[in-house]
Amino acid sequence: MTRSDANKMWGGRFAMSPAELMVEINASIGFDKAMAPQDIAGSKAHAEMLARQGIISKTDAREIIKGLEQVRSEIERGEFAFSQALEDIHMNVESRLAELIGPAAGRLHTARSRNDQVALDFRLYVRDSLDAFDSTLHSLQQVLATKAETHADVVMPGFTHLQPAQPVTFGHHLLAYVEMLGRDRGRFADARKRLNESPLGSAALAGTSFPIDREATAEALGFDRPTANSLDGVSDRDFALETLAAAAISAMHLSRLAEEIVIWMTPQFGFVRLSDKWTTGSSIMPQKRNPDAAELCRAKVGRIAGAFQGLLMVMKGLPLTYSKDMQEDKEATFDALRAFAVAAAAMRGMIEDLEPVPETMRAAAGRGYSTATDLADWLVRTLGLPFREAHHVTGTIVKRAESKGMALEDLSLAEMQAVEPRITKDVFSVLSVDASVRSRTSYGGTAPQNVRKMARRWIKRLEKAPGKA
Ligand code: ARG
Repeated sequence: MTRSDANKMWGGRFAMSPAELMVEINASIGFDKAMAPQDIAGSKAHAEMLARQGIISKTDAREIIKGLEQVRSEIERGEFAFSQALEDIHMNVESRLAELIGPAAGRLHTARSRNDQVALDFRLYVRDSLDAFDSTLHSLQQVLATKAETHADVVMPGFTHLQPAQPVTFGHHLLAYVEMLGRDRGRFADARKRLNESPLGSAALAGTSFPIDREATAEALGFDRPTANSLDGVSDRDFALETLAAAAISAMHLSRLAEEIVIWMTPQFGFVRLSDKWTTGSSIMPQKRNPDAAELCRAKVGRIAGAFQGLLMVMKGLPLTYSKDMQEDKEATFDALRAFAVAAAAMRGMIEDLEPVPETMRAAAGRGYSTATDLADWLVRTLGLPFREAHHVTGTIVKRAESKGMALEDLSLAEMQAVEPRITKDVFSVLSVDASVRSRTSYGGTAPQNVRKMARRWIKRLEKAPGKA
């Protein structure tokens, strides 16, 4: 590092170079170079506005914009030499711009500070992630809803406590996730609405004396409006916190689905198959097929929730406005946003690939006396027993069946009548798993006709492009 390198941006006041460790602890270029496209887009909008307002000349603005385009293409082609001594992406870009176009580059930073610049870049970056999440989750919902329609009447055990509870349909189970993802998308959309104000023009913290047009830069960069308070504009990171919180919640949903895939894929369950595309083998055990992708989707929530917690701790107690602490906002956030993007996309791929094994699911649905509630409901409906009494009678019948190692529907009528003499052979019509799911026609229930209708409703709703829902 040369002395001139280190002090280029504030050399007037500084005589000595920073300590080596100062450079290391201070530099963010190692991770904030990911915001190069946003930084350049922000600078272009700023330069155009400065020229329109007569704050810099049209010629300088043209040079600046041409130079920025050149910088962008150097970065895209991997030809840009990032310098740690130049600290961050903002100074790296500006310094290269000066090499390319000379003194006019120095006019770009008029009426701007790195404080509003970084607040802007980070917002744009997070906004891009929000848009990408929405389209991936939209697509995941489509895949789930389509599968749900196809398998609307595939019967499987529904669980509570991971114990067989009542039969449900596979389609119904998949649609549960479509609902969750719908709410996740709603949370991301809410975060985007509040995020979508431009901090550019807040300058260092107090605004500027130059006659800038903040409405114009806000509009050029796709914001709804400029932030209304310059102190707030440079110093809040709640938009990143909100996005991380929403991502952590959605990642939690993905992790539950991932866990179910892991369970369903075990030979003990055997409910679904995943192809070679989404599984791995073992280097020692030739019979193995491991659901690594699902396991990793299950795990990602950890680092996303961690990034949320980390940023919350960085921000808490910071006095207004900018403090260098806030440079710690980016590294873990970028990592978490990438982790969410890859987990959601992998889940989409897995669900598309996943095939249920209906015979196994069906057989499992019949085990564990999963239609006991149907028997109790029959006693209530047909014999007028109070539900609590029906529950007791059914429990006694289940105990009998269990001691004989038999399913409920395989008990003889006489055996049931020994417990409750008024039971008739009509009871057998409710004891099969198919009859059980068919009867659950209450709104939101698992009956195949409901599931088909709900799946179609979702498929129709999802015809609307992402970003619009
Ligand atoms: N690299 C810095 C960050 O990420 C940019 C803002 C620097 N501002 C300052 N006043 N030193 O926070």
